[in-house]
Order: sequence, then structure tokens, then C-alpha cells
Amino acid sequence: MGKPQSQAEMMEKLVSLSKRRGFIFPGSEIYGGLANTWDYGPLGAQLKKNLKDHWWKTFVQQRADMVGIDGGILMNPKIWEASGHVETFHDPLVECKVCHKRFRADHLLSVKGIEPQGVHVSPQIEHRAACPDCDGELTPPRAFNLMFKTFIGPAEDSTDAVYLRPETAQAIFVNFMNVLNTTRKRLPFGIAQIGKAFRNEITPGNFTFRTLEFEQMEVEYFVEPSTWETAFEGWAAFMEVWARTIGIDARRLHRLEVLGDDLAHYSKRTIDFEFDFPFGRSELWGLAYRTDFDLTNHAKHSGERLEYTDASDQSKKFVPHVVEPSLGVDRTMLAVLLSAYDEEALEGGDTRVVLRFTPELAPFKAAVLPLSKKPELAEPSRALYERLLKRFPVDYDETQSIGKRYRRQDEIGTPYCLTFDFDSLIDGAVTVRDRDSMKQERVKIEDLENYLETAL
Ligand code: GAP
Repeated sequence: MGKPQSQAEMMEKLVSLSKRRGFIFPGSEIYGGLANTWDYGPLGAQLKKNLKDHWWKTFVQQRADMVGIDGGILMNPKIWEASGHVETFHDPLVECKVCHKRFRADHLLSVKGIEPQGVHVSPQIEHRAACPDCDGELTPPRAFNLMFKTFIGPAEDSTDAVYLRPETAQAIFVNFMNVLNTTRKRLPFGIAQIGKAFRNEITPGNFTFRTLEFEQMEVEYFVEPSTWETAFEGWAAFMEVWARTIGIDARRLHRLEVLGDDLAHYSKRTIDFEFDFPFGRSELWGLAYRTDFDLTNHAKHSGERLEYTDASDQSKKFVPHVVEPSLGVDRTMLAVLLSAYDEEALEGGDTRVVLRFTPELAPFKAAVLPLSKKPELAEPSRALYERLLKRFPVDYDETQSIGKRYRRQDEIGTPYCLTFDFDSLIDGAVTVRDRDSMKQERVKIEDLENYLETAL
């Protein structure tokens, strides 16, 4: 087994495979595209669904202390005032006076090895950075709010302005009392949500790593204030275990303690889980201690009491504190794809590309391959395919040589190929080929569902 040599080459190969095999397409392509937007194709959509289902099963369904919600993307704009996003969800924007390209001032400083101090980079950047594209002079940084604004109704009036949510978290905070009252959960407990978030990023890029529209899988975990550290450590370990379960290469995953000005406005402590992407080590997920910041601010702005009553002492009321594991779906998928990608040298000098997905994430669990297109093999193969489809996502492929078809399935990460040959008509069995070991064995057709159920 061998990984490709150059990281830039690796990324190019992955982007090209993603397009060629239907994982990820450039957005709006027939109209010349829309920069930094991407559409998930048939295999990408299935992989993404498997990933989200796995997260939901692990983070919500299998935990007695968790429930889920599905909140709206459009919410009352007062929410974003209370959450601090209107005032502080900014990045420092600089523009080149010559070529008019825009950059994040903190990114330009980092490239020069200067530690940026949050959004307050004005004194730092002056005379120290020029346009990285044309060397032109840069404007002074200005705070640029990342929220997308739109309008409800026909008049584009500021009183009708709403924001596309920049994080899913706020729908959880504003529904805290609804969930508490309808589920009667006791502390500590968490509320989870998966959904779209939008940010008008100054410098999107690196494929699906930083985009304007993305999905988040977030948990707001409510605790009695003095216990936040235990919850924080518990979630950190839980997230690392999950990373391994979904096939993220543990050697490429690292914890970064976020310090000082780099902490978000709501956070007292944050760990970034960073991944070694081909373009450098960058944030994959975050884990933040949000204190009572959000519930307290929503209580102030809405006039509602957002409190918890102690089960054993009804007179004891307090605002729970919050620990937040926050995971981006698209970045997770990118890390899964990069961890799964392998090029294996074969005897005879050939190389095969394999996506070594865990069986639970693989878009197809198996592929039915008739050895020949002749009706005597194609018809029973097709019938087998349609039978298996009722239980598993399965592919069917009858074109080109069996060797080429194996390679095609390796390249999309299908764990098993089921070859229906002329012997199958006699012994009622197919050859099952394992993606990783390439070992083959004969399995009775009537036992295939049980075989796959056990193997996957
Ligand atoms: N509620 C906390 C929160 O939103 P964040 O660190 O800003 O925290 C959480 O975002 C996660 O969302 C990130 O770790 C990343 O996985 C994902 N994410 C954030 N911005 C993104 C973007 N522009 N494109 C893709 N994923 C993004």
C-alpha cells in the first residue's frame, strides 16, 4: 500500500476522482460555475447520508442523555443580536488597491509567521503585508460580518431583514425550554441538530473545506455549572473515538488548545480538532465551553426565563452551562475521503486506487457483476441485484472485463463484489471478492443477505 507522494497531487487526484465517479461536482457547472460551491453527486449524497446517519445514531439515538431537533434556517433576527453574531461575527477584511482581490488579514499575517490577534489586526498588518497576488498595497482591515442577509416579503427594507443562520446552535438554545418541558430530561443532557449553515467567507476554498454553504452536526450539552470540565473531557474523548470509527486516520488528527483572542466571543475554552489536510493542518471540528452565555443572553433579550429547576430541590433554579461539540459535515467527509484514499501497487507493476471506507460509510455495500452480458447470466444477476437492493445499497455493472469492473468498484469503495458466472447456474453460488484483501470465496446465493449482514 502506498499513499501518493505529493500532497498537492493527492488533492488534485481526489478532486478529479470525486467528479469522475459522482461524489462531488462543481456547483452550477453548465453556467460556468459559481466559485466555491459544490454539489454532491449520487455517491457523494449517499456517503454524506451515511455519515450523518452514523453521527445521529452515535451522538443521539444510542445515548440516553441526548435528544434531537430540526430547527429553521430563518429565525427572528433578534436571535443574532442576542447571540452576539450581529456585533462580533466578523473577520478582518483587506482589499488590494491594485487588483481588488480580497483577503483575510489574519490569514496574511499567519502566512508571514506573525500570530494574528483576533480581528484586531490593524496595527499588526500595516506595512507588513502586501497583496499576495500582485504585491499591491492593501486597504486597512475592516470588520466584515460573515452573516448572509436576505429579506422577507417584497420590500427590501431593513425592518424585514433576516439572516441565514451561520451556525445551527441557536435553534437549540431558543428551544431549550420547549425541549425541557416536552421531554422532562434532567441535567446533564444534550440537544443535537444537523443542518445547513451559511457564512459569507472572505476566502473560501480548498475544495469543500471552506464554503459559503455547509452542514453542521452540533450538540449543545447542558450541565450543572460546576461539572462542565468533566463533560468537556468526556466529549473530547467521545469525538476522537467517533473519528476512528468512521475511518478518519488517527495519526492525522490533533488537538489544539485555542487561546486568547482566537477564542470565539462566547467561549471560555475551546479545543479545535485539527486534521492534516493536503493543504496543511487545519480545523476539522470544534469543542467549546460556552458557559451560560447563550441562555443568559436569550433570556435578557426575549424577556423569557430560561432556567432549570433542580429535581431534588424545587427552590434551586439556575441557568445551565453548555459544552458544545460542533462538527462540519463537509469537512468530515473530506477527511474521510482523504483517509480512505489509497493507491496500491499490484504484481506486474499495475496500481489500483481504493477508497477504503468503513463498511457503514461505503455508498454501495456490494456490486453484482455478471461474468458475461449473455441473458443466461445477466437475467439471474439482475434478479439477484433487485433482491439485494431491498436490504442494502447495491450496484450492478455488466460492462467491460471483470478486472476493470473490480477496479471501478475499488475506486468507489464498495466492500464486496459478487460475481455471477456460468458455474453459478450449476452450484447456486457466486464468487465474493473482498475489496481490501482481494481474497475470493464462493457463497451460496440464498445465503448472501446473511453473509453481507455479518460481514458489513
Ligand atoms: N456553533 C459553533 C460553531 O459554529 P465553528 O468553529 O465556527 O463553531 C464549527 O464551526 C464547524 O463547522 C467547524 O469545525 C467546521 O467543521 C465547520 N465549518 C465552519 N465554517 C465552515 C465553512 N465555511 N465551510 C465548511 N465547514 C465549516
